[in-house]
Amino acid sequence: MRVGLIGWRGMVGSVLMQRMREENDFLGIEPIFFSTSNIGGPAPKESGDGSKLKDAKDLKMLAACDTLISCQGGDYTTEIYSPLRKSGWKGYWIDAASTLRMADDAVIILDPVNADVIRDGLTKGVQAFAGGNCTVSLMLMGVGGLFKSRLVEWMTTMTYQAASGAGAAKVLELVKQMEYITVPTRATPSENALEVDRMVTHAQRDSGIPTKEFGAPLAGSLIPWVDRPMPDGQTREEWKGMAETNKIMGLHPPVPVDGICVRVGTMRCHSQALCIKLNKNVPQQDIEQILANSNPWVRIIPNNQESTVRCLTPTAVSGSLNVAVGRLHKLKLGPEFLGAFTVGDQLLWGAAEPLRRMLGILREHLGN
Ligand code: HSE
Repeated sequence: MRVGLIGWRGMVGSVLMQRMREENDFLGIEPIFFSTSNIGGPAPKESGDGSKLKDAKDLKMLAACDTLISCQGGDYTTEIYSPLRKSGWKGYWIDAASTLRMADDAVIILDPVNADVIRDGLTKGVQAFAGGNCTVSLMLMGVGGLFKSRLVEWMTTMTYQAASGAGAAKVLELVKQMEYITVPTRATPSENALEVDRMVTHAQRDSGIPTKEFGAPLAGSLIPWVDRPMPDGQTREEWKGMAETNKIMGLHPPVPVDGICVRVGTMRCHSQALCIKLNKNVPQQDIEQILANSNPWVRIIPNNQESTVRCLTPTAVSGSLNVAVGRLHKLKLGPEFLGAFTVGDQLLWGAAEPLRRMLGILREHLGN
């Protein structure tokens, strides 16, 4: 199988490359590396000695691949996908971007949760597969078992989204902001909390703090807005919650999902506080069992201070494929209301991992 990779040098693409190398995914395929900015430059070793980067806008070159995996972003997909199809290309397109997600002829891929939907799509001839929104994918990796068991009447999700979800430049700006707001505390050290607060707040409001990317200080603060506005007061990130959850799970009628999406100053883990309205009073032990058995990466964190502080944080989860679910308890709203908190690495299950696994499913499906 000739597999073309586009956008493999970006943040998501680099994590994808790392995971593909770790899992020996390059064995048995012929990888072709494309570029939009360094055409003719040296390709990674996987493509063979002396191989050069191909032009990612060259439809003929792209069409020579059986499968294309793109981490290049939505603009690239918008520009290339339709013309490539119109040129007669019948290959498989696997994409991290949101462009094709909601199209009728595309499947959203998160195989530990919806392998049946993916395989059904392959059997029906679907050729476009898009990774889900990271927040939705990580939520479903955590509590998808309850949706699968048809136990959810509705759900709210209040998110705490990492800088990485907005791209590499945002991550770098966040760290520069962190540095900037602590400069005065190092110049004039103080053990007085109010004095330190004054210095930090002053630095945050100072015109010198880098805010080109976020438009506001995120370090030591938060921004309750992710993505562009939608009708009825939602942001697009919030809109995706319901649209993608129901598409991934194949739910009819759809289960309402909504909430407020918030950017916080974490690096690469998205967290979410969930309020799940169950359609019956399920004992908590049964709930924990359903969640623990739903996929091999869920980690149920006991609802106590020691375990929560040690295991249910972005710092603890970062860089791991495990998705932590904790703070599980019935809310005082009633016995059918479940509270939960989940943390997952946005670059792994939220972006790169479903793509490489889709390639594996495809190879299995095609018998190579
Ligand atoms: N839109 C998400 C975010 C990232 O901004 O955090 C990936 O789906």
